[in-house]
Amino acid sequence: MKSVKSLLAASTMLAAATAVNAAELEVTHWWTSGGEAAAVAEFAKAFEEKTDHTWVDGAIAGSGGTARPIMISRITGGDPMGATQFNHGRQAEELVEAGLMRDLTELAEKEGWKDVVKPSSLLDSCTLDGKIYCVPVNIHSQQWLWLSHKAFEDAGVDVPTNWDEFVAAAPALEKAGKIPLAMGQQPWQTTLAFQVLLTALAGPEAYTRVFGDKDAEFAGGEELAKVFEAAAKAREMSAKSNIQEWNQATSMVINGEAGGQIMGDWAQGEFQVAGQTAGEDYTCLPGLGVNEVIQTGGDAFYFPVVDDEEVSAAQLELASVMLSPDTQVAFNLKKGSLPVRGDVDLEAANDCMRKGLDILAKGNIIQAPDQLMSADSLTQVNDLFVEFFNSPDMSAEDAQKRFADLIANAD
Ligand code: GAL
Repeated sequence: MKSVKSLLAASTMLAAATAVNAAELEVTHWWTSGGEAAAVAEFAKAFEEKTDHTWVDGAIAGSGGTARPIMISRITGGDPMGATQFNHGRQAEELVEAGLMRDLTELAEKEGWKDVVKPSSLLDSCTLDGKIYCVPVNIHSQQWLWLSHKAFEDAGVDVPTNWDEFVAAAPALEKAGKIPLAMGQQPWQTTLAFQVLLTALAGPEAYTRVFGDKDAEFAGGEELAKVFEAAAKAREMSAKSNIQEWNQATSMVINGEAGGQIMGDWAQGEFQVAGQTAGEDYTCLPGLGVNEVIQTGGDAFYFPVVDDEEVSAAQLELASVMLSPDTQVAFNLKKGSLPVRGDVDLEAANDCMRKGLDILAKGNIIQAPDQLMSADSLTQVNDLFVEFFNSPDMSAEDAQKRFADLIANAD
């Protein structure tokens, strides 16, 4: 019979053997707000519970506009992380074309991603030349207006049911010392507000014609002129909103300092962390209560090519964990986004997520700007709108002219 000593020696060796295979996987992302941090923690927890590996969190503050250049320069500079967030679409296009991102096709086929990921456009956004290079983890839509019940109560007016009613309520909100529209001044947030106004007021086709088909004549035409007028109104309503981060603006809605915010449904995570309930403390209006559509934007994880066997093995395990049904539910409920799997039970979804799911089920979807336009062109659009929202003397006409020129040269 084996001595205790030799049994102990054997188990120590086994532990040592297993430990060698365990990897520390650095995961970079820009999820630093309260709700975002709570959500990404679900990925870390699931990864460490379901595998022998360790999640090394590489959060980068300042949202995607700040984080992405840092991620890209690390990957092109030969200091890749184990996994990294990008938005669905074309942001990682050049990195994939340069052969710096891992091909996940074998895993995707083994796990039948094509059958579980819905809508399939999400996986298409990860596919280049027939190969799959990322795992989509959620559906986020920009097309939302978040309204503070407290602010409207304090102002003595009803909570609006659409954009026009919101604009009409602005004087009463200001009279009550509120900021009608809270908006962070990072460039992407000003473009987001314009894109949501465009889709709601001119329609989803108009949005796709401009950001998808790059129809410059249409971008310079009458229908868009109405949207630029509305953007000028939004500029007026947010004039006193001197903050940077999107979640600071959401906090103003949560605290009743501001009437509303045009922001993606990642804002939900903040209301949750604040313990607020949809329909009781705040209202969410998809498509500004005018055109109820869902954008199939969101987040995906890419895995840079590394020459480390353990890390490579851990990369595939993380991709698999992120798409697993229970992890999809746990993450998305905290994130405020919709799961990319159509086969999960979202019993715990709140009113706003249910509205999103209904719209998705009806097929009223549009592609996200990141899926339609190159990152370079979107950066130029961001520069125009942050200038417009911070220059009260720039007329809607002038802004529209410059926008049409940008669209004419966009790719
Ligand atoms: C988006 C991302 C969301 C959310 C948001 C604000 O790009 O898709 O998940 O985090 O940025 O940071």
